[in-house]
Amino acid sequence: MRMVSYLFSPAGRSTPSPRPRLVTLLASNSISFVIDYRSDCCVFKTPTVYQTMRLHLAMLASTLSTVLRVSSSFAPKSSTSSLLQRSITSTSLQMASDSDTVTVGIFGGGTVGGGIVEILSKKKDYFKQLSGKTIEVRKICVRDASKERDFEVPSGCDIVTSYDDILNDESIDMAVEVMGGTTDAKDVVLGALKKGKSVVTANKALIAKDLGEIESLCASVDDSTQFRYEAAVCGGIPIIRSMQSDFVGDNIKLMSGIINGCTNFMLTSMDRDGKSYDEALSQASELGYAEADPTLDVGGFDARSKLKILMRLAYGMDVDEDDISCRGITELTKIDFEYAKTLGGTIKLLGVAQMNDDGEVSAFVSPCYVGNDDPLSSVNGATNAIEILSDNLVESIYIGQGAGRYPTANSCINDIVALAKGDTTPLPFNPSADVKFVNNYESVFFLRLNYRDQVGITRQVGEICEKHGVSIHSILQNPMTKSQDSAFAIVTEKVEYAAILKVLADIEALNWCKGKPFYMPVLREDWQ
Ligand SMILES: NC(=O)c1ccc[n+]([C@@H]2O[C@H](COP(=O)([O-])OP(=O)(O)OC[C@H]3O[C@@H](n4cnc5c(N)ncnc54)[C@H](OP(=O)(O)O)[C@@H]3O)[C@@H](O)[C@H]2O)c1
Repeated sequence: MRMVSYLFSPAGRSTPSPRPRLVTLLASNSISFVIDYRSDCCVFKTPTVYQTMRLHLAMLASTLSTVLRVSSSFAPKSSTSSLLQRSITSTSLQMASDSDTVTVGIFGGGTVGGGIVEILSKKKDYFKQLSGKTIEVRKICVRDASKERDFEVPSGCDIVTSYDDILNDESIDMAVEVMGGTTDAKDVVLGALKKGKSVVTANKALIAKDLGEIESLCASVDDSTQFRYEAAVCGGIPIIRSMQSDFVGDNIKLMSGIINGCTNFMLTSMDRDGKSYDEALSQASELGYAEADPTLDVGGFDARSKLKILMRLAYGMDVDEDDISCRGITELTKIDFEYAKTLGGTIKLLGVAQMNDDGEVSAFVSPCYVGNDDPLSSVNGATNAIEILSDNLVESIYIGQGAGRYPTANSCINDIVALAKGDTTPLPFNPSADVKFVNNYESVFFLRLNYRDQVGITRQVGEICEKHGVSIHSILQNPMTKSQDSAFAIVTEKVEYAAILKVLADIEALNWCKGKPFYMPVLREDWQ
């Protein structure tokens, strides 16, 4: 059952109140309704109307007829039939009357935009069967209109360069933002929502940065103006939809995910193929896995944006991105992979969020040691995966393509078709909750220390660990080849992250310690 809002214009307040008449009419026709006097809005329940229509009170005489006319479920009784002869004059009503077409304006005609256009063309007839609507791309906004496109521009579709060509076009119902960035993209996304156009976007950076503002705006527009962003986290994996609908009776304890395809590709190359960091990065860039600015990938920032969005869905919290500890893969060396192998596992860049027994949530993006018996250890190449531990479902794993033209476009298409079908998600980010974020968590840690050989190193490390309450589980040392530049590794028992930071600071100050010690959490307590 769909809710449709009718707003009374302020001018209507000075005219004899139409509400009693409207209420009587609706009730006598068995139409469900709610009148919200604060917003001067009347909400009807109707199963078939697609567009929300704003009717000015000046038109109320015809409003009463129109209300009855827009849906077959509102079949009027004979006493009202004369009202039905009146014409419908508002623009929005005209759009509703042309309800067998949904018109789309796309911002961005690149990798993802091109994929969306191709799939919409290829499956046009199927989408019509599925949604009852022809989905028509009317305009594509790009930076350079003269650039040759690697997809066929549909007939009747204009390539434009001004955002207003789409935003101000009242015949366009839906805006798809796949141009990227956080400044112009924000204007476009917010602008479209304000104009009553539903928005589909793949832009995780924008959502992570302006989630609060987007959320407030979504709450203020009517139900038919929807915001969808399935492609924004893990490209082709339907994780947003699942987080919105599959955990409503569950409690998520832990989310850990390989949520950046570029770094997973690089780590796989470094571990499995013995490639150096630079070789792995240049190969990832050649294959199109890296962002235009690879710092976003290798620094962990892209993963952090996605983690923030997932945390909003899992825990109802809007944590500041900068509060999430973020370490990329730039400090990793070959020796870390050797020690990980010795321990029976590998290294993955993970975004992890977990709720402790006190209901507080911590999160980080970091390289992590992952044992070979963990499902994430075998997720290789540019593939993404998210593992969710929860009370009811216990363990759920989502694996798939996190990027690329068709996987990402596929998620956008799912959103577009869902909107064409009239699906509504009144809370695109799930209900918010007052959950405390703590920048601390407990874990087993792997530490790698580079050193110049001298007497007493192990004793000093032991003393520092003891001072900060860190218990050592094991010490690993490959045969030393260079006495002035070697490395050994320590695996701790389960300890607080805050204690590890203190241990590392003390060790770094010692004269034998070469460079910054490296650390990473061990994904599971039962890692051995
Ligand atoms: N590619 C992926 O695998 C993937 C996966 C998940 C999410 N995403 C997200 O999807 C979005 C698009 O990514 P993409 O890979 O498709 O990017 P892309 O290939 O670089 O395409 C960007 C498109 O937007 C247009 N554009 C950029 N800035 C513009 C501006 N200021 N005004 C008008 N048009 C502008 C460009 O026009 P020109 O063609 O004229 O330059 C281009 O057509 C990003 O938010 C990205 O994070 C991408």
